[in-house]
Amino acid sequence: MATATTPGPLRVGVIGAGWPGERHAEGYLASGEARVVALADLDPARRAAFARQFDVPETYADYRELLADPAVEAVSVALPNFLHREAAVAALEAGKHVLCEKPPAVTLAEAEAMAAAAERAGRLLVYAVQRRFNPATEALRERLAAGLLGEVYHARAVWTRTWGVPRGAGGWFTDPARSGGGALIDIGVHVLDLAWFLLGCPAPRTVSGQVFNKFPELTACDDSAFALVRFADGRGVQVEASWVLAQEADQMGVHFYGTAGGALLGNTSLDLFTVGEAGRTRTSVALGGGYPAPAFTAQARNFVRAVRGAEPPRTPAAHGVRLMAMLEGIYRSTREGREVAL
Ligand SMILES: NC(=O)c1ccc[n+]([C@@H]2O[C@H](COP(=O)([O-])OP(=O)(O)OC[C@H]3O[C@@H](n4cnc5c(N)ncnc54)[C@H](O)[C@@H]3O)[C@@H](O)[C@H]2O)c1
Repeated sequence: MATATTPGPLRVGVIGAGWPGERHAEGYLASGEARVVALADLDPARRAAFARQFDVPETYADYRELLADPAVEAVSVALPNFLHREAAVAALEAGKHVLCEKPPAVTLAEAEAMAAAAERAGRLLVYAVQRRFNPATEALRERLAAGLLGEVYHARAVWTRTWGVPRGAGGWFTDPARSGGGALIDIGVHVLDLAWFLLGCPAPRTVSGQVFNKFPELTACDDSAFALVRFADGRGVQVEASWVLAQEADQMGVHFYGTAGGALLGNTSLDLFTVGEAGRTRTSVALGGGYPAPAFTAQARNFVRAVRGAEPPRTPAAHGVRLMAMLEGIYRSTREGREVAL
């Protein structure tokens, strides 16, 4: 059992050997503060390749066997969305700390059940929304804290692919029963989360959304989504997300609008703007690091240190619950054809 005094690197198990599972393993290794001691995945070829690449001593097809391994102190859950709750709750009940991939779950009720399980078990549940750890995000966070943009009153969170329906193992991404939703819950979640995080995680109050499924031959989920979330403090965020959208080019970035300036945050870029009688200025902040490795490394390090009690987790279970409330609210608002209270 991990405690604040457990010596040596944290012993982690990765559950799910897809792209995010690999990035988690890289992050743990690069952090210098964790070892990947076990992997679980149903697919023998993925299991073998992953174990070779990251030098993992124990592999399992069944993640429950990994959870019974006393050498494992914490796990990354990088399974399809419909398995997040089941795997995270089982891990917490087995005494493991959990870093779970986005979206938090398939429904708000599931995210609440996960947070309650963590509370009951006295273990940490943290969500993986790695863009919170990008060097560009850190750079903007510092500038916001220093008041550089003045009062930031609105944000616009955009990730619109022109043509990019994801294909997970077994086609679960495009099946609403297993994904919980489409473009919004898959990629909109990243930019909504980033906007909300940098605004200081204000309490969401109402949501007005429109999600569309205009390309049913490609997906049974939303292929585009547009929404406005209003916060209790009077600020708000617009969200736009798509897997398919007739526009000039893919867009990804979060715009922040303040009384003293604006900002556009990308994965590896940060541009600052001012406007006034004297004209407009645009400043590109010089950043190092690239994407996604620095983000996954910093995320892994924060998780390990939070398990050790050395620093607060950046994306605690309560944030996952709020995020799911916003996402679910957008779907509900669409169904009901009106703004809904959260
Ligand atoms: N943070 C990010 O940038 C990012 C990027 C991609 C995906 N994700 C998230 O990560 C999760 C996984 O996505 P993915 O793209 O890797 O999906 P995927 O379908 O490609 O891979 C999931 C893996 O889980 C394995 N698996 C499925 N059911 C299992 C079970 N019952 N027991 C053990 N293994 C099982 C599959 O064999 C597969 O290797 C999703 O929640 C997705 O939203 C996050």
